[in-house]
Amino acid sequence: MTVITEANTAKARALLAELTLDEKIGMIHAAGLFRTEGVPRLGIPPFRMDDGPMGVRAELHNDSWVPLYNTRDYVTYLPSGSALASTWNPDLAYATGVALGEETRGRGKDVILGPSINIKRSPLCGRNFEYMSEDPVLTAEQAVRYVEGVQESDVAACAKHFAANSQETDRLYVDEAISNRALRELYLPAFEAAVKRAGVLSVMGAYNLVNGVRCCENGWLLDDVLRDEWDFDGFTVSDWSGVKRTKESAEVGLDVEMSVTPDFDDYYFANPLKEAVARGEVSEQDVDRKVFHVLCVMDALHMLPDGDGTRPVRKAGRYATLDYLQTALDVARESVVLLKNDDGLLPLDADRVTRLLVIGANADRVHSNGGGSAEIKALYEKSPLLALCSQLGGNVKVEYVPGYHAEQVVQDVSWQEGSLENSAGSDDADEARDCTLREEAVARARAYSEAGDPIVFVGGLDHEHDLEGRDRTDMTLPYGQDALIEALLDVAPNMIVTFVAGSPVEMPWADRAKAIVWSWYSGSEGATALAEVLTGAVNPSGHLPETFPMTLDDCPAHSIGTFGHEGHVEYTEDIYVGYRYYETKDVPVRFCFGHGLSYTTFEYADLDVRRVDDTVRVACTVTNTGSREGKTVVQAYFGLEGTGEDRPVKELKGFAKVDLVPGESRQVIIDIPEAKALGYWSVGADKWATAWGAAVYVGESVRDIRLTADLD
Ligand code: BGC
Repeated sequence: MTVITEANTAKARALLAELTLDEKIGMIHAAGLFRTEGVPRLGIPPFRMDDGPMGVRAELHNDSWVPLYNTRDYVTYLPSGSALASTWNPDLAYATGVALGEETRGRGKDVILGPSINIKRSPLCGRNFEYMSEDPVLTAEQAVRYVEGVQESDVAACAKHFAANSQETDRLYVDEAISNRALRELYLPAFEAAVKRAGVLSVMGAYNLVNGVRCCENGWLLDDVLRDEWDFDGFTVSDWSGVKRTKESAEVGLDVEMSVTPDFDDYYFANPLKEAVARGEVSEQDVDRKVFHVLCVMDALHMLPDGDGTRPVRKAGRYATLDYLQTALDVARESVVLLKNDDGLLPLDADRVTRLLVIGANADRVHSNGGGSAEIKALYEKSPLLALCSQLGGNVKVEYVPGYHAEQVVQDVSWQEGSLENSAGSDDADEARDCTLREEAVARARAYSEAGDPIVFVGGLDHEHDLEGRDRTDMTLPYGQDALIEALLDVAPNMIVTFVAGSPVEMPWADRAKAIVWSWYSGSEGATALAEVLTGAVNPSGHLPETFPMTLDDCPAHSIGTFGHEGHVEYTEDIYVGYRYYETKDVPVRFCFGHGLSYTTFEYADLDVRRVDDTVRVACTVTNTGSREGKTVVQAYFGLEGTGEDRPVKELKGFAKVDLVPGESRQVIIDIPEAKALGYWSVGADKWATAWGAAVYVGESVRDIRLTADLD
């Protein structure tokens, strides 16, 4: 889909003809950490960008990473990509995009550096919290609507990081060996959808190399695939310091160079590029092509003056408003995942609760100001403790004990200056202190349990672990939480275990816990949503957008391929990422892809799968058979048949979220373009091919299949 019109290209061409080489060069490299140079004599403003993707980042100095520390750049903290994916609700992705686009424009920016849509290959990737899913269809559906929402406001979204930025370790230099099949089927489709279906106006070249070629020098990715195959007509921008050589990046479709240091004139696309043009090593046409893309997008965003010098009307946007906080809450509510609820332990009977014990440092934490470039200067972020107290009201005595020690993460203001180096985590263990905290928590839990009063544990991760520039080294809970949970369950078997985190953790005690609730870094109101699920004010409807394996050793990126190495990693697991592997190889998992419980129950009937013109239509009837209104996610998986190649037994092809009152039945229809439903990248032919048929599975998770049919 193209957003750039003929009028945009005409104006871009006309302006380009007026520009000097110096002016052109100024428009394609940074003149500030988040902006390019404008051309005042022609009314061309600087291009202003900002992170992304969970809200608009705080205002920094033009040439240093130190914030301005003013009071006018507080914004809505929107739920992370993983939370958004967990809703399985594209309408909420659109609402998120609308809020973010308006806030971006409201803050006077032109480009928001999101969505982050890399596929989660390993649970250890430090930026998984920003990313959406291990599955390309779920990622694509959410990304498309998010981009459409952002771009309503005369703001460009920026799909990042193109491509396969699946690990943080050695992220600037690691070379990733990936088959064409895995690229085409897993790592590229969300970008393709953002370009072809949503008309995303910018794409960020990743730091890493793919098959030996740096992404920001990669003619195959940036020209052949992005421009020629997908008809991308927006502009590309390097990740900050993703350009490492002038000629090699200048000659491919990398349009704008951004970086982390303030020596803007020395950037590869600054004086060195000018000199390369003068020496005839880079043609001025290459420079023109880049400036043309920038001008086209600027005009599409109504940034350029008309021929008579007047400025077109541009949307104004607004930020830090109550309605976007409401959007953040709406999304958070559908993102909480009820992983386990034996004996109907949840929801708490709020009318009968007189006191509640809350244990765990994440109850008393906020997370917005961390994680790397996705940090947010949030207007506010409620902690779970605040949200629980506020939900339960003054008649309930809430007691809090931390149970373990976790320093509140405070991100170093200028961490990004050093972000090009690998960093190591710190371990703040102190045996005596930790032992005292644990004993105190166990003693309180015993007393509450004996009295029949509820206990909620709020643990998980924080941005010391879910963090740009660093991968986790294992999948276990930090700060001794596993031992603490075991000890607590010994004395309080009905303890409700909840988490705030950005990536899966091992849960060796999971069989002993009756109720487990998962929440992500889910925005200003994320804790409200968690509290509402616990009290039953909200019926949970989040479903896992990624598998929670039993242990890290089960994960194919680690057991088959390599992950987290410096220099070179092999994606030997190929397309067998996440559930594609666990299902095909029948590997037990802790919680499977798509899993999520509700306080009501749903029945599925009447599956009908047929071809209608160029689509495959999957239809079934879903009935709410419980006693509460609730939403479920109808998931359609296909096992392609007759390909003659090794294929996953199940691949998500479509889904729909449906809201039903008790007793209500509804026919759910999922239409999938036939090329997507039956398409696969043939290893033999090294191109797209179409399967003749498929086994179709419909259910509430990849393992909770309710209906099956054959498509011949
Ligand atoms: C990140 C990008 C981000 C950029 C600007 C880089 O470190 O990888 O996602 O947009 O910085 O802050």
